[in-house]
Amino acid sequence: MLYRGVVVPGDRLGRKLGYPTANLKISPDVLPKDGVYAGEVRGEKLSRVYIGAVSVGNKPTVAGEKRVFEVYIPGFKGNLYGSELQVSLIKKIRGQKKFASIEELKRQIAEDVRKILSLKKEDRARDRQTPDRRKTSRLLGLKKSRPKKA
Ligand SMILES: Cc1cc2nc3c(=O)[nH]c(=O)nc-3n(C[C@H](O)[C@H](O)[C@H](O)COP(=O)(O)O)c2cc1C
Repeated sequence: MLYRGVVVPGDRLGRKLGYPTANLKISPDVLPKDGVYAGEVRGEKLSRVYIGAVSVGNKPTVAGEKRVFEVYIPGFKGNLYGSELQVSLIKKIRGQKKFASIEELKRQIAEDVRKILSLKKEDRARDRQTPDRRKTSRLLGLKKSRPKKA
């Protein structure tokens, strides 16, 4: 399922956590179910498709109030405020949880990101077996296309 929205300021805790997220402005009645998902992220300020770690919910660990849709984009550094992102959810990893401490939340997010990036590796491995998937990988920016010989 594809979600699109403009990046708006969050509570700015993500930076302290070490996992800054882009918070998307999405109408509450179209938000997906709470959880943590792997997603493909596209946007006008992104030079390629990224794999992102998406969190949907009211952030029970930090006593958030509203349900939010936010995405951490490993490997991307830059300012996305005010720009539109399109996020396609690929796979649900787990549900939202209330952790006993920020430290525990941080450890879990590290684990989530590892898992999400390993999905990317699985995709690469599958690519080696099935040529018709290569195009998808190139689109995802997972594979550099070989320079053409002159
Ligand atoms: C991959 C990922 C998983 C997350 N999982 C949870 C969770 O299970 N419980 C929770 O309370 N917050 C979770 N969060 C949300 C963080 O609490 C949130 O990103 C942080 O508080 C920063 O929010 P802010 O940018 O609005 O300040 C998750 C965030 C990410 C990126």
